[in-house]
Amino acid sequence: MNKNLRKAVIAGNWKMNKTPSEAKALITELKETVKDANCDVVICVPYVDLETALRETKGTNIKVGAENCHFEKSGAFTGEISAPMLKEMGVEYVIIGHSERRTYFGETDVTVNKRTLAALSEGLIPIVCVGEYLEQREQGITEELVAMQTKIALQNVTAEQMEKVIIAYEPVWAIGTGKTATAEQANEVNACIRATVAKLYGKEVADKVTIQYGGSMNAANAEELLSKPDVDGGLIGGASLKAVDFGVIVKAASK
Ligand code: PGA
Repeated sequence: MNKNLRKAVIAGNWKMNKTPSEAKALITELKETVKDANCDVVICVPYVDLETALRETKGTNIKVGAENCHFEKSGAFTGEISAPMLKEMGVEYVIIGHSERRTYFGETDVTVNKRTLAALSEGLIPIVCVGEYLEQREQGITEELVAMQTKIALQNVTAEQMEKVIIAYEPVWAIGTGKTATAEQANEVNACIRATVAKLYGKEVADKVTIQYGGSMNAANAEELLSKPDVDGGLIGGASLKAVDFGVIVKAASK
């Protein structure tokens, strides 16, 4: 497995944090802390912060993503945002199927697949999230479950489109809890996701797909997690709201 085939991607997931003025202040700091990155740096921000983020990151190495998008292009879906809307703004990435969307907003594997296809059809890069609950880990079904989530999420995604997809393994029990998966656990599941992609698209495509780890990744543990052969980056929640910490994680991924 050649890790050099893949560029590391560190993506911040701001969740429901930061007003536009707060976003501007954080980005001003981030521009400094990540400017020497040798990996892709993305910030996924609330919809209302997108315009600010796009403006403030212009001409920098920071790319901008949304945290979700609807699967229809337009229509009677009050409160939703479509992929063409994001595309026209200049957004490049979008998180799809985060466990908080699945747990609190009824997202299913099937809607994750539809949203992934919608994002890809607009040329957005989807960061597709998969991961198990603690109970499922204890039942010993993590690998089967994550393989199934991956397979369903990727239904009807072509091999060509697959080159744009990022997958994030995020064990639900590690998100926002301070409990991180060990580097070995993260690597094991990431390798299983890559094997699933290989079964669907062949080894060449699988070797190139970026698979992140997410779940309490922080300045202290990033280096070890990112040193693993199948961990190609991180999806960072809490620590992405602190410019210094995010900078340390980006540095760890740049090695
Ligand atoms: P966390 O969140 O880093 O705060 O655990 C990660 C995520 O939810 O993407």
